[in-house]
Amino acid sequence: MKTDAKLYTQPLSEMLGQQVVNSENMSILALNEAAMIKLFQSEGVLLFRGFATNVEIFTQFTNKFSKDFMDYAGGVFNRRIINGDSTLLSVNDFNHEIKLHGEMYYQKTIPLMLWFFCAHPAAQEGETIFCDGKQFFNELSQPLKELFSQKKLKYRGHLDKDAWQKQYKTNDLNVVKQICKSNDSHLVINKDESIDIHYICSAIQHSMYENHPVFISSLLPAKSMYSESVSFDDGSEIDDKIMRELYDIAEKITTEICWEKGDILMIDNTRIMHGRRAFVDDKRDIYIRLCSPLFSTNESNKG
Ligand SMILES: [Fe+2]
Repeated sequence: MKTDAKLYTQPLSEMLGQQVVNSENMSILALNEAAMIKLFQSEGVLLFRGFATNVEIFTQFTNKFSKDFMDYAGGVFNRRIINGDSTLLSVNDFNHEIKLHGEMYYQKTIPLMLWFFCAHPAAQEGETIFCDGKQFFNELSQPLKELFSQKKLKYRGHLDKDAWQKQYKTNDLNVVKQICKSNDSHLVINKDESIDIHYICSAIQHSMYENHPVFISSLLPAKSMYSESVSFDDGSEIDDKIMRELYDIAEKITTEICWEKGDILMIDNTRIMHGRRAFVDDKRDIYIRLCSPLFSTNESNKG
């Protein structure tokens, strides 16, 4: 373990990330902010473990480092609002696996950073998983590097009235039009008030803090959960051979977090993909906040 300006850290895995450990019975709110920010910018993912935390402390701690908290409008999963705060949400309401992804990469407006809080770990399984999108890009074969550089992804969705009202948190189609316009999403409103949307973007991006290419997208869960929802932008299929290579890389470079109650996880959503393992314990309760860093980012890298 090494000491760095009041941060006691150890590697989160052999591949990436750092765990900030409470070894002097200190308040998480007293951590050295500058040292923490520096570590986050270089590592992309930090786990805070062993601190006395609860939902209120989690909210205070995340408020110190973040801005532009999002209410997940446009997000595809059902999330529960915690303590009446629309920026503090449960993770989704089902138990199966979610493959590695960047959060909300099926629209233009993404949260640049994510926070997770473990209110209650699963008795077993239910690990959150993550990987470095930079490493994912490096592991791609040359043909796939070229393919994903040349062709963009096209995400598609068909939502009936009930579904778009839930997803966009409004009954007003004009609000949906505005959200889609600001997200560069193409919207078609049908006679029965259902909608069709699509959004095109590259799976190869650049992170907030580095110029190295990053493979980050919603492709893996989209393809495994709703196979018809994603293709290349020219309409061609992303076939099983391509997906097999991607799933194999994902497993090879995945790190797992076995949650402990009170853990806080900080993720750079422009570089780190995350997901989770399946579980059966209904008591598993993990919260999420979607936001941007209060500290500097290199916005010119994004896009
Ligand atoms: Fe997610």
